[in-house]
Amino acid sequence: MRIGILGSGGMAKSLGGAWTAAGHDVMIGGRDEGRAKQAAAGIGAAHGTIEEAARHGQAALVAVPAQAAPDLVRANAHNLTGRTVIDCTNSVVPTAGGLMLDGEPMAGQLAAAAPAAYLVKAFNLCHVSIWTLRPPVFENNPLAVPFCTDHPTATAAVEALIRSIGCTPAPCGGLARAAYLEATAALAIGLWWSGSEPRAAFPVHA
Ligand SMILES: NC(=O)c1ccc[n+]([C@@H]2O[C@H](COP(=O)([O-])OP(=O)(O)OC[C@H]3O[C@@H](n4cnc5c(N)ncnc54)[C@H](OP(=O)(O)O)[C@@H]3O)[C@@H](O)[C@H]2O)c1
Repeated sequence: MRIGILGSGGMAKSLGGAWTAAGHDVMIGGRDEGRAKQAAAGIGAAHGTIEEAARHGQAALVAVPAQAAPDLVRANAHNLTGRTVIDCTNSVVPTAGGLMLDGEPMAGQLAAAAPAAYLVKAFNLCHVSIWTLRPPVFENNPLAVPFCTDHPTATAAVEALIRSIGCTPAPCGGLARAAYLEATAALAIGLWWSGSEPRAAFPVHA
């Protein structure tokens, strides 16, 4: 599949690297050509501008900080028409009361920013390092990747992308439920930061 990545940081390199290793045609798009070129060279991807990456693929991964994502997607809405747009952003901020979500759910904001794209929330739960595993398998179980979307096109695309890197798609309902994926990330990251292990809270009874 052709995949454009908006952003050239950690997620672009790790998840983009998993996709190039799986044989996908990936373009990393960055606002700084040097950083995009370096990130792309490291994983065997092409590089370009944010706009070129938005136009490159059947799918586009939004891999910029949550605070920057709505404006970036809005500015590229015309480039993203008819494409699956994958939102992996987590809008979390540290507060005195712990890690909190900041503002309206990101998935809804990005869907509104590019109404003619097929928005899907996915890949936001795991730390960036997980996507460097080939494949991500834990206790003999392939990693489950939860996703939320309203669009059959996005479902087919994201399921194919998840399977291609050795993971298992976990459909979690429509985009309205993406807020739960965002809240789950905030809870899990908060647990990690406080020294706890989120997985220990979800044991499987024999
Ligand atoms: N890191 C994780 O473990 C993890 C896990 C799950 C989800 N996520 C989410 O994935 C997203 C990306 O995270 P990351 O770890 O890849 O971040 P990162 O390493 O800091 O990279 C962020 C990228 O976004 C670009 N960027 C920032 N502001 C921009 C703007 N206004 N316009 C265009 N590009 C902009 C940066 O460009 P410059 O290099 O030019 O600054 C950089 O390429 C975030 O929303 C994060 O919440 C991260």
